Amino acid sequence: MSESPSNRPKRLLLGVTGGVAAYKSAELTRLFVKAGYDVQVVMSEAATRFVAPATFQALSGRPVFTDLWDNRIDNHMAHIDLPRGADAILVAPASADFLFKLAHGAANDLLSTLCSARDCPVLVAPAMNRQMWENPPNLRNVALLRQDGVHILGPDEGDQACGETGLGRMLEPEQLFALVDAFFQPKVLKGLKVLLTAGPTFERIDAVRGITNSSSGKMGFALAQAAFEAGAEVTLVAGPTSLPTPVGAKRVDVVSTQDMLTAVNGVVSKTDIFISVAAVADYYVLNPSEQKIKKDAHILTLELAPNPDILANVAGLAAPPFCVGFAAESENLLEYGEQKRRRKKLPLLVANQVQSAIGADDNEVILLDDHGQHKLERAGKLDIARAIVNHTAKLYREYHTKS
Ligand code: C5P
Repeated sequence: MSESPSNRPKRLLLGVTGGVAAYKSAELTRLFVKAGYDVQVVMSEAATRFVAPATFQALSGRPVFTDLWDNRIDNHMAHIDLPRGADAILVAPASADFLFKLAHGAANDLLSTLCSARDCPVLVAPAMNRQMWENPPNLRNVALLRQDGVHILGPDEGDQACGETGLGRMLEPEQLFALVDAFFQPKVLKGLKVLLTAGPTFERIDAVRGITNSSSGKMGFALAQAAFEAGAEVTLVAGPTSLPTPVGAKRVDVVSTQDMLTAVNGVVSKTDIFISVAAVADYYVLNPSEQKIKKDAHILTLELAPNPDILANVAGLAAPPFCVGFAAESENLLEYGEQKRRRKKLPLLVANQVQSAIGADDNEVILLDDHGQHKLERAGKLDIARAIVNHTAKLYREYHTKS
């Protein structure tokens, strides 16, 4: 659940302006409410032509405001009272007309007026026909908004409701939710480059068969998201997994351990922090067959050779990045974890019990570092990832003030 610094739920004022994408903002409202946000919806008059306020009222659990003169606010000052309690204003969809009004300080309806009277950040998710988006006055307005510190989320490229294809679609609700939630996270890795490995690797036996490890990739992908939220520039080297790329991460897909090592070596010199989450296949098949091996009743012998240890390689560099390792163990978690940390020369190792981690959406882990051990109680993988990122940032700063 997203909490403000004072530990109260985040308060989001969601502005909805006139556009077909307004229907997606109903889902967006649900995502924020589900994550524990307090959502106050304000609609433009045009937005109410697309979706009825009752929909947003039901989803947010709060009355929806559309009118500057609404007398449900005692002092008749909705444009002052509504933005005062908000941690941020998100306008989604933001129409071309709304972008124009915001860029020029218009105050002629409730949403534009309360934006003029705000003392919190504003994020906008533009949604319009591609020609409208590329219309020079609209692009000038967007440039002005950027100068004013307004955060522009999207737009996306693709099919449009009008039947045309191009730039102007609103980002999907899940993407918008992730970006806004990221916006609220402390920027503890700002300016740093983070490289992660995630998922399993796969070693070919023949044209169809192979050896792999069980790993969903969820923990590594959650860490990539958490690192991006913390302000890092993120490269994610991923073994075979069908997970969607976390918002903000640059993804490099690989198959074998050797491919993963090559991809890591390609960026490691420009890396501040390396987080090795991948469940790497420890062996590869010496002579994989180009063709599918025919099945018969005989015993099939495979010759396996050990793969390079990517993490140990990186940690052993002359000037290594700050390295974080993972250890999934089925027994003696602390003992084996600490042995692995020392053997691989890691400032931080995240130890987790195999039985409780693989494939699940939540996890519980123990962080092992030079100070000792620190348990993170069972929680969703993104919450665990955020806590690991915070701990990593703290240790990273300690190491750099020492050296
Ligand atoms: O497989 P093991 O338990 O040694 O994995 C511990 C850590 O080392 C993990 O962070 C894993 O990503 C990394 N590792 C690696 N290359 C290998 C084996 C493990 O980077 N070949």
